[in-house]
Amino acid sequence: MPSTGHYPIERREGEIERLRMQAAAIEFDASVMLDRIGVGPGWRCLDLGCGPGGIVELLSVRAGPTGHVIALDADPVFLEQARVLARDRGLGNVEFVQGDAYCTGLARGSFELVHARFVASIVGRPKDLIGEAVTLTCPGGIVALQDPDISTLKCYPPHAAWDRLTQVLEQVFACVGNDVRLAQGLYQLVRRAGLEDVQYRPFLVGFRSGDRMADFLPATVESVRRTILHHGLIDEAELNAALAACRRHVADPDTVSTYVTVAQVWGRRPRASTTPNTTFHRTARSRCSLVASQMSVRETAYGGDAQANQTPTP
Ligand SMILES: C[S@@+](CC[C@H](N)C(=O)[O-])C[C@H]1O[C@@H](n2cnc3c(N)ncnc32)[C@H](O)[C@@H]1O
Repeated sequence: MPSTGHYPIERREGEIERLRMQAAAIEFDASVMLDRIGVGPGWRCLDLGCGPGGIVELLSVRAGPTGHVIALDADPVFLEQARVLARDRGLGNVEFVQGDAYCTGLARGSFELVHARFVASIVGRPKDLIGEAVTLTCPGGIVALQDPDISTLKCYPPHAAWDRLTQVLEQVFACVGNDVRLAQGLYQLVRRAGLEDVQYRPFLVGFRSGDRMADFLPATVESVRRTILHHGLIDEAELNAALAACRRHVADPDTVSTYVTVAQVWGRRPRASTTPNTTFHRTARSRCSLVASQMSVRETAYGGDAQANQTPTP
């Protein structure tokens, strides 16, 4: 497996469902972003850190039979789940690549869209990730990121167990050097990477007690349980009690909750320049050399007959 930075989330039983549940809850807003960007027939798209599905289907449907989507993740199990989903949905233009999002080894300047959701924040090293994304994007192409601001993860009425779990969740990411409030600085980071016409679209969704996403906070804490305990952020008995109390509270029909604010930020690689920001570029490439030997198992989805031709310049 490639060097993943500091990704603290375990692929425990239930993690694939947690990621899919989350993707479904924010699918509408992902679609709005892709439509604003104008992703359409013939586009070559890359989803970095796609997990068990990410936005691959949304990209595949828009790119159509003349387009091509590469879904890349470090985790072979997630990738296999994404491949099965694509096969079941009849998505014939998707290629699956096991690799390192920070050092993909993919052809430079070859995508109309490079996208990453919950990678710059949750896996970390945002500047390196953006640097790699920029170099993979063709002149005039789009780099798009979606990252969270955990400060809006709230329940109403408020509850002490909920507050304790959100505190521990933020701390565990900070312990491994990652930033679950990255949304607050994402616009600035993308602008400083030299991208043009940078757009900013934050959104916030909420859930009632019966909605599957009402369990998002406890489920996410379960997925980082080992790292939480490893760093001694909370005693195991207290953690278990807080999880149980939080689940009881969100099961109350009167309880509602709001999710992390997700900032969608996207910008265009300048047409005139091949390397918009050399600092970002160099950083990403130098780290690449460390892990290049670990790249890359390619797997083309059932036939792999997708065409990458006739692609419009966005
Ligand atoms: C929080 S999940 C987000 C998944 C997906 N983008 C989504 O929005 O549903 C982060 C993903 O990054 C992947 N990942 C972690 N380190 C990685 C790396 N160095 N290169 C590629 N993927 C990585 C994990 O396996 C996981 O699938």
